[in-house]
Order: sequence, then C-alpha cells, then structure tokens
Amino acid sequence: MMERRTKPLRMALTKGRLEKKTAALFEKAGFDCQSLADKGRRLILPIGGGEIEAVLAKAADVITYVEQGVCDLGVVGKDTILEQGHQFFEILDLGFGRCGFALAAPKGRDFYGGYQVKTIATKYPSVARRFFESKHMDVRIIKIEGSVELAPLLGLSDGIVDIVETGATLKENGLEVIEPIVQVSARLIVNTASMKLRKAEIESLAAKLEKELDGF
Ligand code: PRP
Repeated sequence: MMERRTKPLRMALTKGRLEKKTAALFEKAGFDCQSLADKGRRLILPIGGGEIEAVLAKAADVITYVEQGVCDLGVVGKDTILEQGHQFFEILDLGFGRCGFALAAPKGRDFYGGYQVKTIATKYPSVARRFFESKHMDVRIIKIEGSVELAPLLGLSDGIVDIVETGATLKENGLEVIEPIVQVSARLIVNTASMKLRKAEIESLAAKLEKELDGF
C-alpha cells in the first residue's frame, strides 16, 4: 500500500439527524464510509481510505472545532450557524436536513392579541431575538434545551421559536405555525486558515460533493 504523504483532512460531522445523509452523500461522491456504519462508540473514524478523518460531534461543537482550527471542515445545519454566528467559511449548501424555523403557538389562540409582553421559549434565543427585533416587538425569551413544544403546554410561554420539519410535533401537541421565519439545510463549513493552507484539497472535495447534489 502506498503511504499517504499528507495528513488527512479532519472533518467534524453532526451526530444524529444529519449523520446518515452526510455518510450517504460522501459514499456517493466516492468516499468509502463503511467505518461510519460500523463505528460502535468510536468518535474519530477514517473515511475514504483515510483521506478524511471524520469526527462525530454535536452541532454546536462542530462549529467550535472548525472555528478553533482543530477540524478543517464541518457539516452542520444552517439553524446552528444562524444561532452561533460564524468565524468560518460556509462553502456549500448540501441541500439535505431541510427544515424551517417558525414561530408557533397553541392552535386557535390569537398570538398577537393583547398588550402584554409575550414570552417565547426556544432552543435558539439569538434567532428568536433577531426575528422579534425585525418586527419591532418586545418579547421575553426563555432558553429551553429540547422538547420546546412543552413550554406553551405547561403555561411557561405564549409561543415557541423552533425547527419545524414535518410539522408532526406541533400538530400532535395542539400547536400551529403562526409565522415561518427562515428555511435551513446542512452546510459544508471550512476553517479560515485551512481554506488557505489546504485550498486545493478542500476545493476538490467540495466539487466532488457538489456534483452529486442533484437529485440527492
Ligand atoms: C426537533 C424540533 C422539533 C421537531 C420538529 O426536535 O425541535 O421539536 O424536531 O420535527 P417535526 O416537525 O418533524 O415534528 P428534536 O427531535 O431534534 O428534539 P428536541 O426537541 O429534543 O431538540
């Protein structure tokens, strides 16, 4: 076997929802991803015969690792990018993981009615704050870590700002979309120094992925 002369590109992948689709896209683009399927509890895995070292992380940490330069690249949802801000390059919309941010509230209730300041529960306080600022509306925002739909049901908030994919979670909990905010999907992000130092490899990888995006 020929020895590799350059170190692998290190890429942080978002665990969970985006993981399977990311592996399928890389596989389609010619990178062997069997190691991801057989990973067990391992968190660092070689893919594409060792050309890439995949690191499995939570979405917010994918951004941290790429920003800090311990990973050259990352695959992460635009929802997390919008919430965390970015000190990195976003070079490709991968198209999958498509869903939308929305303001939602209990069905049939007049969310905008009344004069009291509304309370909003969300996992995405920055996105929620910017949305209400754009409407010049004063709100109180409460950060929740998950199952945000519970907050209005328990009487903690008037509404939520959350991700809606199929709409099933809202529907099954008696909530409805009041206003869509923005559509999001998975993005390929790159550390700013890596973009300079390993430009050719990164551009070649992005081109291989982009070629496979049609109909993916
Ligand atoms: C996300 C989101 C909604 C749900 C939307 O939560 O926060 O709760 O998925 O999907 P749907 O429109 O297809 O029902 P996730 O499952 O990631 O869990 P969490 O609420 O614990 O964060």
